Amino acid sequence: EKKIAIAIDGPAAAGKSTVAKKVAKELDYTYIDTGAMYRAITYKALKLKVDLENPEQLHQLIKKTTLNLEQEQNGQKVILDNADVTEIIRNQQVTNSVSDVAKHALVREEMVKRQQEMAQERGVVMDGRDIGTHVIPDAEVKIFLIASVEERAIRRNKENIQKGYPSRLEQLKEEISKRDKLDSEREVSPLIKAHDAIEIDTTAMSIEGVKNEILVIVEKIR
Ligand code: C5P
Repeated sequence: EKKIAIAIDGPAAAGKSTVAKKVAKELDYTYIDTGAMYRAITYKALKLKVDLENPEQLHQLIKKTTLNLEQEQNGQKVILDNADVTEIIRNQQVTNSVSDVAKHALVREEMVKRQQEMAQERGVVMDGRDIGTHVIPDAEVKIFLIASVEERAIRRNKENIQKGYPSRLEQLKEEISKRDKLDSEREVSPLIKAHDAIEIDTTAMSIEGVKNEILVIVEKIR
């Protein structure tokens, strides 16, 4: 069995990280959530009041930033300059600003470089927006996960309620649609299905169902 790279891309809240974590656990692979990297730098930029429309300043900021994704039993811990930011980077302010930070070529260049270093050794499941198209274009398995906006908002709403966060379905639908639009229409590495990616519509599927479908695809390759 050879170690491979599995790229999982798709729009916001399509279940990428949930599924990617499970696939990684099953295969004993490293799970890498690239969205968390963009979120962490956005969090830092907001805290330091860096202008999110200024790519040079953001680039300087990233250069001075250490970002570590530590493997945990059920996912990953995000460490930003020695502080654990795993939870706080999911907040609404970061969620609603991250696409503005991620649209800059200078920001992406630096992030992609770091992500490619992480993926070099294979044995990785990486989730994001441009993994199959730019970060690991030679990934052995590429998955593109989609689901209806309605279903994605319902899932995120349930998740928020479980965590005890305030949550409104209508607002979530708007936020998810807006983020999809920004991510799909940006000039640099927009969210798009790689020509050789396998699309899975998870709208009517369970998490286990999606995981198993991906594992079947992986087994055919290995
Ligand atoms: O995956 P998640 O929803 O946490 O990603 C947050 C944001 O980071 C996305 O909406 C997108 O703007 C950006 N992102 C990106 N490229 C990636 C991963 C995330 O542009 N590979």
